[in-house]
Amino acid sequence: MTAHWRNPVGTLLGVFVVGVAVLVALLLIRTYTLAETKRVWLDKGALEAELTQEEREQLLEALKGAIRIPTVSFSETEQNNTALAEFGQYIRKAFPLVFSSSLIQHEVVGGYSHLFTVRGSDSNLQPYMLLAHFDVVPATPEGWEVPPFSGEEHNGYIYGRGTIDDKNCVIGILQALELLLKRGYKPRRSFYIGFGHDEEISGNYGAVKIVEKLQSREVKLSFLLDEGLAVLDGVIPGTKRPIAL
Ligand SMILES: *[C@@H]1O[C@H](CO)[C@@H](O)[C@H](O)[C@H]1NC(C)=O
Ligand SMILES: [Zn+2]
Repeated sequence: MTAHWRNPVGTLLGVFVVGVAVLVALLLIRTYTLAETKRVWLDKGALEAELTQEEREQLLEALKGAIRIPTVSFSETEQNNTALAEFGQYIRKAFPLVFSSSLIQHEVVGGYSHLFTVRGSDSNLQPYMLLAHFDVVPATPEGWEVPPFSGEEHNGYIYGRGTIDDKNCVIGILQALELLLKRGYKPRRSFYIGFGHDEEISGNYGAVKIVEKLQSREVKLSFLLDEGLAVLDGVIPGTKRPIAL
């Protein structure tokens, strides 16, 4: 999600800042408080949902490391291609099970975008798709309390461009999948994951190419989840109740 966040509209910016704080706080609270044992019930039985201390640290480090790669879309025609390529290497290293699982096919699309096909056991179930993007709009150090590509953690908050738009989703999806695979998860329903590299500048080489690939395979999706953001109350004209984007 993009263009309208770039307009310095006071109310939207306020909500945006609150959104940053709330989402990052939630991430950290979840990360540090999942102490008691919990189990997630799936069709094959119970999977351990508790994170070990090591997994918690990996979760935070994975996001911080992703923030430090300046995958900036400077303009409609200019991106940091070095950083985009580096990001691809980074996720391969950070999520080894995702990239080695026999259930998962990984493809680079449009030069730098990523398409994952996760094969479920029941081919009668219509697949779904999760989407996110890893390019970010430019950020200069002015106005930032810490350098925008530092990924520093202060007082329980991770700072940086992309922490909520949208590397949080990219890393969240990959981390969840990595941990599920580690616990032996095998999905019944197939699903796709698409990570775009040029969402902030229209997605012509990422999202569009991914769609073309899926169309050529005659993929029909049951639903699709893309980048969301804060719950907005009284911000979107014509709405009277809080709206989850
Ligand atoms: C592009 O990204 C690389 C890291 O992959 C970084 O070293 C370089 O400074 C970036 N270039 C610009 C202009 O931001
Ligand atoms: Zn976005």
